[in-house]
Amino acid sequence: MEQKMLDALNEQMNFEYYSAHIYLSMAAYAGELGLAGFEHWLITQYEEEVFHAQKFYHHIVARGGRAVIKGFEDPEEDYDSLLAMLKTALEHEKIVTARIHDLVKLSDKLNDYATHNFLQWYISEQVEEEETFTDLIQKVELVKDAGLYILDNELKSRTFTPPSE
Ligand SMILES: [Fe+2]
Repeated sequence: MEQKMLDALNEQMNFEYYSAHIYLSMAAYAGELGLAGFEHWLITQYEEEVFHAQKFYHHIVARGGRAVIKGFEDPEEDYDSLLAMLKTALEHEKIVTARIHDLVKLSDKLNDYATHNFLQWYISEQVEEEETFTDLIQKVELVKDAGLYILDNELKSRTFTPPSE
């Protein structure tokens, strides 16, 4: 694999771990608000992000590259409200989407068909991620405080099933 591609994949792997930490921090914030369902749901999101990072790790290794683990800045600790937090999450996912698209462009430029193929999964995943947060923001805006308790209960049942390759 070309060094430029390897560096970019390593950067995204670390960004996925960073995303995981952001959601774990959001989970802690929701927990502090007493919203156990949102807390659970965000911990599941954390697990998904770790899975995303690990997929990059395995692709890098499978292509004969070296995965380089980096640190990252502290995630936000506090938000103005649950809604503000979810809007931050959606904005973050839009950044991830743009980063994935940039990786696809680079793989095209370098004729790295294997990486191009690998990234297709992330393109679909990002459509889902943005839709998920958009839906959740809409739900929170609809139910407001009265319905928050019901929605919180609904979120408790989320599970993570790794997709079969
Ligand atoms: Fe991700």
